[in-house]
Amino acid sequence: FDYNEKYRPLYHFSPQYGWTNDPNGMVYHNGEYHLFFQHNPYGSMWGNMNWGHTVSKDLKKWEYMPVAINPDSLGTIFSGSAVIDKNNTAGFGKDAMVAIYTSAGRIQTQSIAYSLDNGRTFTKYDKNPVLSDLNFVDFRDPKVFWHQGTNQWIMSLATTQTITFYGSKNLKEWSKLSEFGEGIGDHGGVWECPDLFPLTYNGQTKWVLFVSINPGGPNGGSATQYFIGNFDGKTFKADNLPYPLWLDYGRDNYAGVTWSDAPDNRRVFIGWMSNWNYTNHVPTVNFRNAMTIPRELTLVNNGKHLVVANAPVKEIAELRRATEKVSDFTVDKTYTVDRLLKDNQGAYEIEMTVKPTANFNFKLINKKGENLKFTFDLAKGSLIVDRSNSGISDFSDNFASAEIKAPLVKKDTYKIRLLIDKASSELFINDGELVQTNTMFPSEPYNSLVFESEGTIAVENINIYELK
Ligand code: FRU
Repeated sequence: FDYNEKYRPLYHFSPQYGWTNDPNGMVYHNGEYHLFFQHNPYGSMWGNMNWGHTVSKDLKKWEYMPVAINPDSLGTIFSGSAVIDKNNTAGFGKDAMVAIYTSAGRIQTQSIAYSLDNGRTFTKYDKNPVLSDLNFVDFRDPKVFWHQGTNQWIMSLATTQTITFYGSKNLKEWSKLSEFGEGIGDHGGVWECPDLFPLTYNGQTKWVLFVSINPGGPNGGSATQYFIGNFDGKTFKADNLPYPLWLDYGRDNYAGVTWSDAPDNRRVFIGWMSNWNYTNHVPTVNFRNAMTIPRELTLVNNGKHLVVANAPVKEIAELRRATEKVSDFTVDKTYTVDRLLKDNQGAYEIEMTVKPTANFNFKLINKKGENLKFTFDLAKGSLIVDRSNSGISDFSDNFASAEIKAPLVKKDTYKIRLLIDKASSELFINDGELVQTNTMFPSEPYNSLVFESEGTIAVENINIYELK
């Protein structure tokens, strides 16, 4: 295993060898965060789906585990979730880890498997599948949680262009509760990978429903929309907004869901850092694709309405190594920070506060002139990422986007954190109120920062951290 491999991330999870797409089966148990993932162990393109497995004690360092769930006569193993059966409702044993996944065969059905050794080995239930419905071709990605109020397991399932909720007392027999999605949200593509969970805002519980959609994302291809509303154990009802909400406006955060049973009531998220538009062709060699940084979800008001903020989990700050402090400066037309890090391996974080009076942009740039550009268009209310000249892009006609756009609420101050890990860029504004995640493939690390502005802007509290 070689961390020097080109584009191999230094602090994001990527498979040792082979392909990954969606994160699966995320559950915290006995001091470990489990992350299973859609995995082709035999090659670096999509196919032969298995559940790969990795664990972390701290959300910083991931230990590789053997493949956890293999294909069988019901099909290959598509996305799903895992829970800890604390009350032994299924009869597999107290505290059994139960995985609920899609068997993708001639039709898509839902199956379960259990582990009594902390996810190291799984036994498939001998009466699989536990849920099928011949009315749906796309019938997949079960995400299950225990609902205290109604004393039952709830499954959210992607059913073509809706989410169907099912209930169960024992994880084996499921009955339909309700269906959500008609006439609401974005329907530009198939609905996938739902997740329903509570978050509190001002002491009040709200329910959030994530729905990944492909294609139909705001900037093309794959993206995750969400709804904020209420859930009574049977029906999810969304608060009305005239437009869909997107968790991340960048092009490379898809199929993300949250951990079950995370400690301290945390709601921790991880997404797949790619896009179906071009993912099979990105220019890596021994592996393809990585996950986002783990992110903590909270509900905040962005000045207009509630949004789900997603910011790096606090543990990420512990990855900081060498620090370059840059003195505060003002930009009057242009300003250049010549060098980011002395020994730049392409894995770093830029933290800064910008106080704008007019439109501005900044660019990460390398000696070849390849660059990644972030434009804050206050007048038009948009945040635009331009990766059209970011590096290698000829592997797909769909990659080199010049206008990856997000709505920007005008504010006096933008607190910015930009996490770069060789081939990925995660931009967090105001603690994750607005996020853009985009991949790029520069031929060498970007090592300077160039600002341009249409007026005078102040840039303060600038720190550049090597991350490891
Ligand atoms: C989403 C998805 C899921 C499916 C999996 C297959 O990216 O299409 O709906 O379960 O990938 O790998």
